[in-house]
Amino acid sequence: MSGQPDFRIAVLPGDGIGAEVTAEAEKALRAVGQRYGHQFVLEHGLVGGAAMDAAGEPLPAATLALCNSADAVLLGAVGDPKYDDPKASARPEQALLGLRKELGLFANLRPVWVYRALAEASPLRPELVEGTDLIVVRELTGGIYFGRPRKEGEEQALDTMVYTRAEVERIAHVGFRIARERRRKVTSVDKANVLACSRLWRPAVEAVAEDYPDVELEHLLVDAATMHLIKRPRDFDVILTGNMFGDILSDETSVLAGSMGMLPSASLADGRFGLYEPIHGSAPDIAGQDIANPLASILSVAMLLRHSLELEAEARAVEEAVAAVLEAGHRTPDIAEAGRPVVTTRQMGDLVIEALASG
Ligand code: IPM
Ligand code: MG
Repeated sequence: MSGQPDFRIAVLPGDGIGAEVTAEAEKALRAVGQRYGHQFVLEHGLVGGAAMDAAGEPLPAATLALCNSADAVLLGAVGDPKYDDPKASARPEQALLGLRKELGLFANLRPVWVYRALAEASPLRPELVEGTDLIVVRELTGGIYFGRPRKEGEEQALDTMVYTRAEVERIAHVGFRIARERRRKVTSVDKANVLACSRLWRPAVEAVAEDYPDVELEHLLVDAATMHLIKRPRDFDVILTGNMFGDILSDETSVLAGSMGMLPSASLADGRFGLYEPIHGSAPDIAGQDIANPLASILSVAMLLRHSLELEAEARAVEEAVAAVLEAGHRTPDIAEAGRPVVTTRQMGDLVIEALASG
């Protein structure tokens, strides 16, 4: 291997456990490179509270430039209690919103599946969650998160929810394309009995559905959706929704899998570029103790390989390595049964790499 790298990956470890889990994900990426003969060049950048500490702002221009020159971005987590003051003008979380907007990451994919070996880890009854396999497709650069005007205030505050038909159609196409590769069912979630944006959303999704006659479409109001997700999670395949409802529903669906420490995500732009991160946050309470679960970050690497680099076999190898490690009974504390032995963050990363090498 020499000359041009095959792929350039921007790595933004961020805050709290972000650095620890990302280090294990990088190890997995390097192991994939070795086994399959790819040259990955990993370049680090600052983001979130770590960037505020070092550069005075959550999303420095150098970080954006690094991301723009990469084939994909691997992010750890942002958020630091030191910067928690909701009145502060700069907050670590702004980096995420900035990255999404600046990089055009309009499609957020949050798959949730329940490993047989982990069905007991969910707070719901195992027979209820077993076999759950769904994906939340969340619109990520529109809606109330980015609407203008917007006003902070003590007596009155204002947020604006805006969706254009084009934005709805764009994310709907992503949802239907994904459904085609899965069980061919889309559940579109809105609040059409109250919100004008949802009354735009629903017919726009129906129009897109006409291009995918082989995919079933149903609509659910968001309040009902929260209920059905807990009562019959197995019935869902693709959940297609807007920015804020997707934020809320994806936290809810993560509970099905037992631990946030298991779940990866992808935020995709047009084309192949994307940002990949575990859905969990920076977890400052357990940071620096080598006990965080790195599997969500490692599984985010699998999504990166699949979507941005089009390396499907490599992506599967990572996912199979994770499944093998879980089947063999290895657990970080978040997914361990009480009183059972646990492995550290780094040990879990090493186990995945061993499984990758022998898989
Ligand atoms: C998420 C997070 C973010 C969001 C926050 C940290 C801005 O909750 O990625 O789901 O609300 O989108
Ligand atoms: Mg969220």
